[in-house]
Amino acid sequence: MSAPVPDGALLVTGGAGFIGANFVLEWLAGNHGSVVTLDALTYAGNLASLASVADDPRHTFVHGDIADRECVARLLREHRVRAIVHFAAESHVDRSIAGPDAFVKTNVLGSFALLETARAYLGTLGQAEREAFRFLQVSTDEVYGSLGPDDPPFSETTAFDPRSPYSASKAAADHLASAAWHTYGLPVLTTHCSNNYGPFQFPEKLIPLMIRNARRGERLPVYGDGQQVRDWLHVSDHCSALRAVLTRAAPGARYTIGGSSERRNLDVVRTLCALLDELAPRAGGQSYATQIAFVTDRPGHDRRYAIDQRRIASDLGWQPQVRFEQGLRDTVCWYLEHEEWVRSVESGEYRRWLDMHYANRAGTAAGASGSGPSAAASPGAPRGEEPRAAAATPPGSAAMPASREGHGR
Ligand code: NAD
Ligand code: DAU
Repeated sequence: MSAPVPDGALLVTGGAGFIGANFVLEWLAGNHGSVVTLDALTYAGNLASLASVADDPRHTFVHGDIADRECVARLLREHRVRAIVHFAAESHVDRSIAGPDAFVKTNVLGSFALLETARAYLGTLGQAEREAFRFLQVSTDEVYGSLGPDDPPFSETTAFDPRSPYSASKAAADHLASAAWHTYGLPVLTTHCSNNYGPFQFPEKLIPLMIRNARRGERLPVYGDGQQVRDWLHVSDHCSALRAVLTRAAPGARYTIGGSSERRNLDVVRTLCALLDELAPRAGGQSYATQIAFVTDRPGHDRRYAIDQRRIASDLGWQPQVRFEQGLRDTVCWYLEHEEWVRSVESGEYRRWLDMHYANRAGTAAGASGSGPSAAASPGAPRGEEPRAAAATPPGSAAMPASREGHGR
């Protein structure tokens, strides 16, 4: 920020989730100032991730909902908040297919309420604080849709083309944030990053799910033909990019952020198996790769994501620092050393999700050789193709508890 207010706090929404927790821990470790974490503690929010700062006087945890305008207005006022970093969301694509309502409720309506509360707060600030204030909308590359193998990567000027309820809800929030900047002058910054990985990621996402299942002797469910491509960004690189945007970007700016690490899903899973074979070999000596199974594809599965990050490199001098192979090794080591954390986040809701989502998903074992996918598998459609029809299953619902401050759950 151009004129930082020294004692104003940062309000981090969704700070008990994967990226939010990493951001809060790094922010405090780097002595950048005090933080108020606001989190509704849905199935994806875990206070265990913030345990190391539970007694830190610079950190306040508030159990509450971004849609609770009274609660948010009070926090902004009482903590003289100088910036909002908005992570809070329903974030899992498969869950959005099974039950889109929660995504519209939190990602669209919740984000809108937060923007409105921030706008009202901005109106109460003096000129210096007003000029320093920022609202950082943490979005995703998924709003840009799906790329074919030879399409140019997503950039800040790529047209939105969301294809899942999740990405549609994120795109809606991004449009509302953009409108708040253009119409009301709320100093919004927007980032669109690729797939994050690293410590504290909830084990419903590809990498931690595969590590968890491998260790439990369960199948490693690869959707479709496993040839979908994701760009992998280590969460610490994402956090450093967000700090750069927050402190140096001009209001209204938008940045795409990636890890320069495009990989096919099947290759990621095979690499994970090889790392586990080395670091925690199976009794009996068989490779974890024998647990790979190709299962029914995700409906409307985006085929490829890729990021052009020349703008953030040239404007802010930011580049990812973590090589994917090293980052993946470190991540596997972290999960092997923190199996207790994984167990602690596996609530009954999580097990119900696994049962509902995977139990009836047809599939065939790939075996150690990693042979081709089953007939049940179908590749996702590249940009421009029609979406496939799919059966949806009713979702589990996430609790939205009332606000309460402190570190207890
Ligand atoms: P996550 O699911 O791990 O965490 C989300 C957090 O938000 C949880 O702690 C949850 O309790 C909280 N939350 C949900 N609804 C809330 C509400 N109404 N009020 C307050 N808190 C609420 O998500 P994540 O992977 O850490 O993603 C964080 C943000 O980054 C999301 O906005 C997501 O769209 C975006 N993003 C994620 C990735 C990724 O790879 N994980 C990539 C690009 C963008
Ligand atoms: O690109 C950014 C997005 O990355 C974020 O906006 C989302 O919040 C985040 O969840 C992530 O979305 P993906 O759908 O790409 O992530 P996920 O980990 O669910 O899946 C990664 C790839 O692996 C995807 O192509 C689907 C595939 N997959 C996933 C699971 C859970 C499987 O093959 N099997 C699985 O069991």
